Amino acid sequence: MIIAPSLLASDFGNFAKETLRASKAKADWLHLDIMDGHFVPNISFGPQVVRALRPLTRMKFDVHLMCSRPEILLEPFVKAGADSITIHVELGERVPQLLWKIRSMGVKAGLAVNPPTAIKNIEPYLGKNQIDLLLVMTVNPGFGGQPFIQEMLPKIQQAAAWRRERGLNYRIEVDGGITLGTAVECAKAGADTFVSGTALFGQRQLGRAVKKMRDAVTAAA
Ligand code: DX5
Ligand code: ZN
Repeated sequence: MIIAPSLLASDFGNFAKETLRASKAKADWLHLDIMDGHFVPNISFGPQVVRALRPLTRMKFDVHLMCSRPEILLEPFVKAGADSITIHVELGERVPQLLWKIRSMGVKAGLAVNPPTAIKNIEPYLGKNQIDLLLVMTVNPGFGGQPFIQEMLPKIQQAAAWRRERGLNYRIEVDGGITLGTAVECAKAGADTFVSGTALFGQRQLGRAVKKMRDAVTAAA
């Protein structure tokens, strides 16, 4: 079970301090939400920020690109120290080449699906181990602190069924409105990787919150 606090919910004036806080809290990954003001109606931060944080921790950097033109960003983020890069299936026919490019640069490739998009759109990319990570968005991306969309649970179940039936080994990640309670629901449905912004960074005792979430999802699975 992987717990990945999302930097989007941290104090934007103190990214370095917040990264160290997540690292000391023994979070497994740091989730980095990259928004371009076009694919989603918000802008976050870019590769320079990621590069500045890289020397501070050994946590895996899980880069989530909510961007219309990821092709121009892959190399900058790999150079900045990303361990995985996730793109969106909503990009359509550009997806196979983007996934190939990500993997060819030696980092893990993720594919995300937005709430209005059917999970079956992911299916063409399951063969030949094209993805390392299947990200089920449990809110409409763009902003932290939104409520979890319950109707996304069957997508997680479908992702888990495909993985089981076809002997694949991608991680099933959930992102958006993940609290202790919704994390448990997702774990029961088959998720193993939990992105959580507000519910984790909002805690004074982040280490305790991370451990509590990891213990809860491990028990639920
Ligand atoms: C949503 C982002 C999420 C966000 C989650 O656009 O992709 O990673 O940070 O934040 P919470 O956990 O607050 O919903
Ligand atoms: Zn995200």
